Amino acid sequence: MFAFQLLSALSSAALMVAAAPAGLAPPRPGGFAPSTCSTAAAKMDLPAGQTQLVSPTTAPLFVALGVGVQNYTCSASTLKYTSTGAVASLFDISCLDTTPAFASVQTLGYAAWKALPASVTADDLGAKIGAPVLLGYHYFVTSPSGTGISPKWDFTSTGKLAGNSSAFFLGTKVGDITDAANTAVNVDWLALNNVQGSLASKVFRVDTVNGQPPTSCVAGSPDISVKYTAKYFLY
Ligand SMILES: *[C@@H]1O[C@H](CO)[C@@H](O)[C@H](O)[C@H]1NC(C)=O
Ligand SMILES: *[C@@H]1O[C@H](CO)[C@@H](O)[C@H](O)[C@H]1NC(C)=O
Repeated sequence: MFAFQLLSALSSAALMVAAAPAGLAPPRPGGFAPSTCSTAAAKMDLPAGQTQLVSPTTAPLFVALGVGVQNYTCSASTLKYTSTGAVASLFDISCLDTTPAFASVQTLGYAAWKALPASVTADDLGAKIGAPVLLGYHYFVTSPSGTGISPKWDFTSTGKLAGNSSAFFLGTKVGDITDAANTAVNVDWLALNNVQGSLASKVFRVDTVNGQPPTSCVAGSPDISVKYTAKYFLY
């Protein structure tokens, strides 16, 4: 019942999305419509008194709700979980940026995501909650140096940039703060600069919900995936 109410709340937000833009293009065959709303009013709410994350003065190019998992492996030497990357679906929330729902969409989205069984994918969630615009995917690839992994935001396969092979952002982290609510469970807020791709020059991860691993693990623990949501601002 609780989950249903949250889904209803998010659906209401999503209905506003559908109602907002005049002349919304018809859904793509895959079920996802191209983004149509302005990002002019979309602003990051960054904590004061820090210099790690500095908002650009221009409007973002894209504002997305990321719905996915953070992956971890148990380090046998420290018995702590270490990050092995993440994978998330990126839903356009530009049509929410002038509505009250914008502030809480990551919280409602996380509650719905958490309540669903593992068999339901993030893409399925987008369809169920009526957030129709899948901009692309966030995941990790081998770093250009050949060592380690780098985060990528890839819009080449879905949405209005589908088929455009340069519509991606490969980033390197340049700023990192604990989430503004200062919880132990939410992943950090980040700033990243472009390393490759022409999708954007900067990406920010903010308004995170969940995604942190347990504080310790026992030797031989299996790899884990921890569900999370976050807002991603691309400039
Ligand atoms: C993260 O784990 C999911 C399964 O939960 C998997 O599909 C994905 O490929 C993993 N990604 C990385 C970068 O480890
Ligand atoms: C491809 O997408 C990039 C943004 O990622 C844009 O700068 C470029 O103009 C696009 N190219 C074409 C041919 O549409």
